[in-house]
Amino acid sequence: MSRYQTEYRRSLAEPEAFWAEQAEKLHWHQRWGKVLDDSNAPLYRWFAGGRFNTCYNALDRHVENGRADQAALIYDSPVTGTVRHYSYRELRDTVARFAGALRAQGVRQGDRVVIYMPMVPEAAVAMLACARIGAIHSVVFGGFAAPELAKRIDDAQPVLVVSASCGVEAGRIIEYKPLLDQALELSSHKVPHCIVLQRPQAVASLQAPRDVDWQEAATAAAPADCVPVAATDPLYVLYTSGTTGKPKGVVRDHGGHAVAMRYSMEAVYDVKPGEVFWAASDVGWVVGHSYIVYAPLLQGCTTILYEGKPVGTPDAGAFWRVISQHRVSTFFTAPTAFRAIKKEDPRGELLKKYDLSCLRTLFLAGERSDPDTIQWAQQMLQVPVVDHWWQTELGWPAIANCQGIEPMPVKPGSSTVPVPGFELCALDADGKRLGADEIGNLVLKLPLPPGTLSTMWNNEQGYRDNYLARYPGWYLTGDAGYVDGDGYGWIMSRIDDIINVAGHRLSTGAMEEVLAGHPDVAECAVIGAADTLKGQLPVGLVVLKAGVGRPQDEILRELVERVRSQIGAVACFKQAAIVARLPKTRSGKVLRATMRSLADGKPYTVPATIDDPKILDEVAGALKGLGYPAA
Ligand code: COA
Ligand code: AMP
Repeated sequence: MSRYQTEYRRSLAEPEAFWAEQAEKLHWHQRWGKVLDDSNAPLYRWFAGGRFNTCYNALDRHVENGRADQAALIYDSPVTGTVRHYSYRELRDTVARFAGALRAQGVRQGDRVVIYMPMVPEAAVAMLACARIGAIHSVVFGGFAAPELAKRIDDAQPVLVVSASCGVEAGRIIEYKPLLDQALELSSHKVPHCIVLQRPQAVASLQAPRDVDWQEAATAAAPADCVPVAATDPLYVLYTSGTTGKPKGVVRDHGGHAVAMRYSMEAVYDVKPGEVFWAASDVGWVVGHSYIVYAPLLQGCTTILYEGKPVGTPDAGAFWRVISQHRVSTFFTAPTAFRAIKKEDPRGELLKKYDLSCLRTLFLAGERSDPDTIQWAQQMLQVPVVDHWWQTELGWPAIANCQGIEPMPVKPGSSTVPVPGFELCALDADGKRLGADEIGNLVLKLPLPPGTLSTMWNNEQGYRDNYLARYPGWYLTGDAGYVDGDGYGWIMSRIDDIINVAGHRLSTGAMEEVLAGHPDVAECAVIGAADTLKGQLPVGLVVLKAGVGRPQDEILRELVERVRSQIGAVACFKQAAIVARLPKTRSGKVLRATMRSLADGKPYTVPATIDDPKILDEVAGALKGLGYPAA
């Protein structure tokens, strides 16, 4: 049996022994009583009875064990012209002081703290400071507009928001404080305190006594020690898109999460303590939580926090510059970033300027890796390119080519094999296990391993209904795909209305809610159409109310602006067309999948239940006007 098979089979056959062994590699303030508590199945808890602190394990443990002077975090910001190294000692001290500042503002164990920040080191400091005192952080991606932030504030009910005066996008400054103020106005939950990091690019006006300056708060504070919490206590809530406008709050615990994070660095990424690991994502996404902040630090690596883009900051050589300058051994990003680089520098001329001999492996995730992109990346970098699959809910890779266990033969288009702890299969609509190569709903066997979601914030029923109810004993991933005869997992598409735009997960349902709120709109549909750069782009099809006589261009502009101001620029909603009717079944179900096929130029069968097939021709015409299908 191969090393992978031995490890994989053991993880499923003896999960408690397997994960206990991994847990021993971290520091426990009190050892767990039960490795896997199944008393509330199908909701499981890992390391029940244990007491643990994630911040202690990510920082203090390394300071006390010889890594005090090693770089823990390198902030590299081409948009502000800054590179700054934080040693483990410095990061621990900064975090301890900020944890004290949180305490001074009244934050207690179990309280929620919303973090709405750009890619500055203070975002990671705020996360770790919450972990230090047992507060629960909820980071909201900076590209979301005020109403989205308000929704998350209302659900998480934070006692404090940490923010910054501005973010710096390529070529423009985005003031965060007006967005924060607007969100605080919109939310019904009233937040008593905010701590705001003033950045020189745009200084925010603070409203005393609610708003406090970061520097002042941190300078005045006494450092706070790590508070051991129950291993099963929540470390963070991270909202992700569901099928409606209401985001889902994924809850991650302290103990199981840390065990899985550290294990994944070793087993999946093959990164040793002391090595430099870079995930070019944003702390607002799960990749940022897991692989910019927690996993590299728990493993004693140096992590890179990059405030910039793959292109335009200043050019398509930006990634190569960072890898070479900081001697990155393992790099993780989304395929869309490589497509952007390839578009600007197809022959990799900029690559020649840098010594990339330090780079061992490139990992891609967040969206489907198209074989062209994988091949190009491989040709350019001359290192293994590993596609791996996971989701916000899972917190770490579930299908991967585990470099630290045993590299497996690559099959382009497949994310390779299930990671130890995850049993993957495809089920048909009735829950029958499908055979090799048969496409169905991809599911993972319960209990999921440590590090996966423990529940949904304020909504345990939602967790059960959305993920557990469809197939008892299995977790529904929301992706369709198959497992082949060699056990390789193949991801085909989402089974719901979630789309993936530049590696960002977005809900078309949320966009439809915004469009439907326009006074002239009778009904609408938003579909994800294939895009060569961003993977998918949202396209809106809108039916106006009878008698609306305003110029259509004006209405379309308002719709685009509406999504931008209510969801955010990150939605990339820039294309919409007005149609007389939407294609529907006779029972009134909008035929989104058929419209998606029209937009992508894919063959489709007109559903037998369609109300009026002629409408499809009209929609096809409208899509053609928007440039779909792409030539
Ligand atoms: N704060 C404010 N606005 C933001 C933002 C943030 N943190 N992040 C993105 N935006 C804005 C962008 O400025 C852009 O605005 P625009 O419509 O005015 O141009 C819009 O949101 C869309 O952003 P994005 O999808 O990132 O497009 P882009 O054209 O700026 O860059 C890529 C395209 C491919 C280079 C970029 O998407 C990228 O690097 N993707 C990598 C994917 C990634 O990191 N995924 C995370 C999961 S692994
Ligand atoms: P997120 O929760 O934002 O990480 O998005 C998760 C979704 O992104 C998954 O359910 C998939 O639909 C998609 N996804 C993530 N990684 C991959 C991958 N490697 N291949 C194909 N799809 C992926």
